[in-house]
Amino acid sequence: MSYPYQVQTIDEYKAAYDKSISDPEGFWGDIARHFQWKKPWEKVLEWNFKEPSVKWFVNGRLNITENCIDRHLATLGEKPAIIWEPNNPEERVRVVTYNRLHKRVCQFAQVLRNNGVKKGDRVCIYMGMVPELAYAVLGCARIGAIHSVIFGGFSAQSIADRLEDAQATFIVTCDGAYRGEKVIPLKSVIDDALVGNKTVKRVIVYTRTRTAVSMIKGRDVWWEDEMEHAESQVEKEGVVSFPAEEMDAEDPLFILYTSGSTGKPKGVVHSCAGYMVWTAYTFVNVFQYQPGEVHFCTADIGWITGHSYIVYGPLAAGATSLLFEGIPTWPDAGRFWDIVDRHKVNILYTAPTAIRSLMGFGLEPLQGKDLSSLRILGTVGEPINEEAWHWYDEHIGKGRCPIVDTWWQTETAGILISNLAGVTPAKPTYATLPMPGVQPLLVDENGVEVKGNPAAGNLCIRAPWPGIIRTTYGDHERCRQAYFSTYEDLYFTGDGALRDEQGNYRITGRVDDVLNVSGHRIGTAEVENAINMHAGVVESAVVGYPHDIKGQGIYAFVIYQGRAGDPDANRKDIVQTVSRLIGPIAKPDKIQFVSGLPKTRSGKIMRRILRKVAEGESSNFGDTTTLLDPAVVEQIAAGRL
Ligand code: WTA
Repeated sequence: MSYPYQVQTIDEYKAAYDKSISDPEGFWGDIARHFQWKKPWEKVLEWNFKEPSVKWFVNGRLNITENCIDRHLATLGEKPAIIWEPNNPEERVRVVTYNRLHKRVCQFAQVLRNNGVKKGDRVCIYMGMVPELAYAVLGCARIGAIHSVIFGGFSAQSIADRLEDAQATFIVTCDGAYRGEKVIPLKSVIDDALVGNKTVKRVIVYTRTRTAVSMIKGRDVWWEDEMEHAESQVEKEGVVSFPAEEMDAEDPLFILYTSGSTGKPKGVVHSCAGYMVWTAYTFVNVFQYQPGEVHFCTADIGWITGHSYIVYGPLAAGATSLLFEGIPTWPDAGRFWDIVDRHKVNILYTAPTAIRSLMGFGLEPLQGKDLSSLRILGTVGEPINEEAWHWYDEHIGKGRCPIVDTWWQTETAGILISNLAGVTPAKPTYATLPMPGVQPLLVDENGVEVKGNPAAGNLCIRAPWPGIIRTTYGDHERCRQAYFSTYEDLYFTGDGALRDEQGNYRITGRVDDVLNVSGHRIGTAEVENAINMHAGVVESAVVGYPHDIKGQGIYAFVIYQGRAGDPDANRKDIVQTVSRLIGPIAKPDKIQFVSGLPKTRSGKIMRRILRKVAEGESSNFGDTTTLLDPAVVEQIAAGRL
C-alpha cells in the first residue's frame, strides 16, 4: 500500500507540480479528500497577500487528532505510533501503539478539561523529549486549545515573555529533563518564569527525573494524579473515548515563537487544516514513506521540525515516529548509529550541525553498527556543506540512500524546497526543486524578479501553499511587515538563494539580521538587547561568523565601561547575562571589547564591516568614507579575537 497522494516518478512529480500551479484548488481539494472531515469545505482557497489573509478549505470542519490517531485505529491500532528511546540507553524503550496513543491523548484532553481549559485557550508546554510531550500537544489539539511549545534551552525570562505575549493560562512541564549526563530543572525554570505572572492558573508537572520541585497549592498539580483520575472518565468498559472538538479549518492549532530581525520573538500561528494537509503531504512525498517504516527525526519538539516531522506529519500518515530524548554524543558519539541499528530505522532526518559534529569523531563510533535498514537520509536547518554531505552519503548511507536536503522555515509549516527521495535527483548542497504548490522566485534589492538561469537573489514565494503562516499572535500587522511588505504581493523568506541552469535552488543563508547557530534561528537584535542589559555595557553589535560545527557562531563587539580587572571574567559575566535573559543557546562564542562601533553619521552601525572583521578580514572593508570615525575600523580589526 502506498498513499494516494504519493508522487512516485519524476513524471508524476512534473504532472503534480504543473497541476498544482494551473489548478491549485483542484489539486489540493483532491488531496484533502483523503483526510477525515466533520464537515467538507465550501471553497478550497481564498487569499490575498496585502492584508495578508489566507484561508484554505474554507468553512471545512475537522479535528487534527482524529486524522492523526482515530482514523488509524481500525487498521493500525496495535502498530507503533511512537517509539521512545530514553536518554539512558539502559532504561527501557517505550513503544506507544496507536491504541495507546489514543488512550493517553483522550486522558490528557480530559485532564485539560477537568482543569478548566477551553477551546482557544493558550497552553504553554515546556517539557523534555518524553512521549508525554506528544500527549500534551495532541491533548491540546483534541480540545482545541492552542499549544505553544517552548524549547527546553530557553531561560525563565524568555518563557515569561512568551507567556505574556500569548496570555497563556496553563502550563505543562516536567520536574526535570535528562540531557546526556545533565539534568535540566525545568519546573524550577517555570517557577522563575511565573514570578509576577498574572495569567497562568495551573501548572501540571510530569515526573521524569524526580528532581525536587516546589509545588504550590492551588496552582501546581502532578500529571500522574490528574491522568489517573481522568482514566476512569474516558474509559468505560474497556472502550476509550473523548470527543474531539470540531474545529474550523482556519482555527489556530498552535503558536511557535521564532526570532526575526527585531528584538522580540514572533509568535508564528498555524491553522488546523492547512497545516495538517501540508505536513502529511510533504512527509509522505519528500521521505517517500512506506507504511511500516521507522522514521527517526532527531529534532526537538520545541522547534518546528519536531512539530511537523516527529508529531503531526508522521502521525497523520499513520507512520511510526521515533522520539529520542538524549543527545548525539552521549554515552558516546555512536548514539545515533546505535539507535538506527537497534530500532531498524529506515529514514533518518537530522541537521548538518549534528553531521559535522559526529564527523569530528571519525569512523570508530560506526564500528559494529548495522545501518543496513536505512533507506533515506535527510537534512534540515541550514545549508549543508559539501564535505558533510559526502560524509553522510558515504559513511551513513553507504552510497545507496538518497539524501533529501529540505529547505523550509517555522513560518512555512513544512518543507517547501527539496528533492523527493529517489524520485527527483539530489544535487549536493542544493535543496533542488519546489514541492508541488510552491512557486519560488528570486528578486533583486529593488524587488525586481531575476529571471533566467543561472540566477541569484532574495528568495520569495509567489502564492500560498496550505501551510503558510496565518498571523503572528496578537499582532497581525507585524506578520504583514515581516513577511509581506518587503516585496509587493510576495512572501519574503529572509533567505538568499542561487538557481542553477536546471532550476535547482541552493539556499545561501539569511540576508537579514538573523543568525543560524546549529540550525537554530537567533536574531542579532535579541542578543544585543540581552548584552546591553549587562550593567557594564554601553553598547554592542552582534554578527555571525563561520563556525566549523555550528555553521555560524555568535561574535559580539562590546563597548564596555563596567568593572575593571580580568577581561575574561567580565566576558563571562556578559555570557551569563545572555544565558539568563535568552537561554544557553544564545551565548556569544566571542566577545571583543572595543572603544567604538563603526557608525554612519546618521548613527547606524555598519554591520557589513563587523561581519568582515568577524570573518577574519583585516583590510578591504569597502567604502568607509560615510563613517563618523573611519579610524575605529582599524582598531577593531587589530583587536580581532
Ligand atoms: C535555514 C527550520 C539551507 C534558512 C526548518 C531558513 C536552511 C531557516 C535549510 C529557518 C536548508 C532551513 N538549507 N538553509 N535545507 N533549512 N534553513 O524557522 O535560513 O528554525 O530561513 O526552520 O533555516 O529556520 P527555522
